[in-house]
Amino acid sequence: MVAISFYLYYNIYNLEIEIGKGENKIRHKSIKFDDSTLYLLDQRKLPGEIEYFKASTFRDVEYAIIEMVVRGAPAIGATAAYGVYLAALEYKDLPDHDFYKQVLKSDKILADTRPTAVNLVWAINRMEWVLENNIEIGRETILSSLLEEANNIADEDIEINRQMAKNGNEIVNNNTKILTHCNTGSLATVDYGTALGVIRMAHQSGKNIRVYVDETRPRLQGARLTAFELVEEGIPAVLIVDSAAATLMRKKEIDLVLVGADRITANGDTANKIGTYMLSELAVRFNIPFYIVAPVSTIDFSINTGEEIEIEQRSSREVTHIDGSEIAPRNMKVYNPAFDITPAENITGIITEEGIIKPPLARGLANLSTKKQKETE
Ligand code: MRU
Repeated sequence: MVAISFYLYYNIYNLEIEIGKGENKIRHKSIKFDDSTLYLLDQRKLPGEIEYFKASTFRDVEYAIIEMVVRGAPAIGATAAYGVYLAALEYKDLPDHDFYKQVLKSDKILADTRPTAVNLVWAINRMEWVLENNIEIGRETILSSLLEEANNIADEDIEINRQMAKNGNEIVNNNTKILTHCNTGSLATVDYGTALGVIRMAHQSGKNIRVYVDETRPRLQGARLTAFELVEEGIPAVLIVDSAAATLMRKKEIDLVLVGADRITANGDTANKIGTYMLSELAVRFNIPFYIVAPVSTIDFSINTGEEIEIEQRSSREVTHIDGSEIAPRNMKVYNPAFDITPAENITGIITEEGIIKPPLARGLANLSTKKQKETE
């Protein structure tokens, strides 16, 4: 009897944490936090293996972000928030001065893991605000407030994605053929997704759509992750090599391009996965609507243009090797920027949880910034 009860409890509990909120569809959660451990669905192993990486220290979180166990702007933001909490937990027994010094030092290490996605710094700033505003309070309260804030960041992300998806669904007609790049789905966020969230919502609302997925060299987020999500959800999709996009557009096989963002500047310039800029130029050439789908937390109002965004350069090995096999001559020089900048003038609109910003993007973004400032006053 005890064994049966335990079996039922264990399975129901596991089922619950695997189910995406409010739906019957089973999605593997990208991030779970339980009992002082952060569980990250190891995206390096997908689609072959479903395995969770356990992070129990902020150094584990640092490793997970750098190595792309977890990736995608909103997902690394939420992950870093739990990383701050884990650092606070680690240093909780130190005297006040040392505690704050060590936690802030850990925050800096986490913030430096990947420089382009602004959500990372945004989430860490939120955690630091909680830390600074609880200085007078006991250590246990600080810890519980930090955990609460990390949970809020994660929960809010799910709600925001759904709202963005609803807003974005308005521009998706029945029988639309959509091109997407990289992975912007439930794996790149806490759940649901940004650009892939719009695609998911369009499909779930009964629209007949077809998705073309760029494989997204060199890390193959499209082939490995987006394809995985689309197959799991049963959304009609076709995988293509990145260089097939122009041909498909010329053949009138693409009606709409939907991509995510890692940082949007005040003028609307957008950093996203390398190859996005090329797609935007093609979209202009073939007169295809090109939309960015991103939460307000991805907008960096503090900088004016894309030229000010730091673009992460990644290891040459990502280009010279495939699955551990060397495919280029040894000592070959490599240029491997992880992101590029799409200029505002190539963008038809930015879909956010607050609505769709249309050109002139700088004006729409300025209005949004004013609105957000008023809300915090
Ligand atoms: O290098 P990655 O895989 O972290 O890059 C991810 C992207 O470029 C996504 O398009 C972006 O983070 C938006 S995801 C919701």
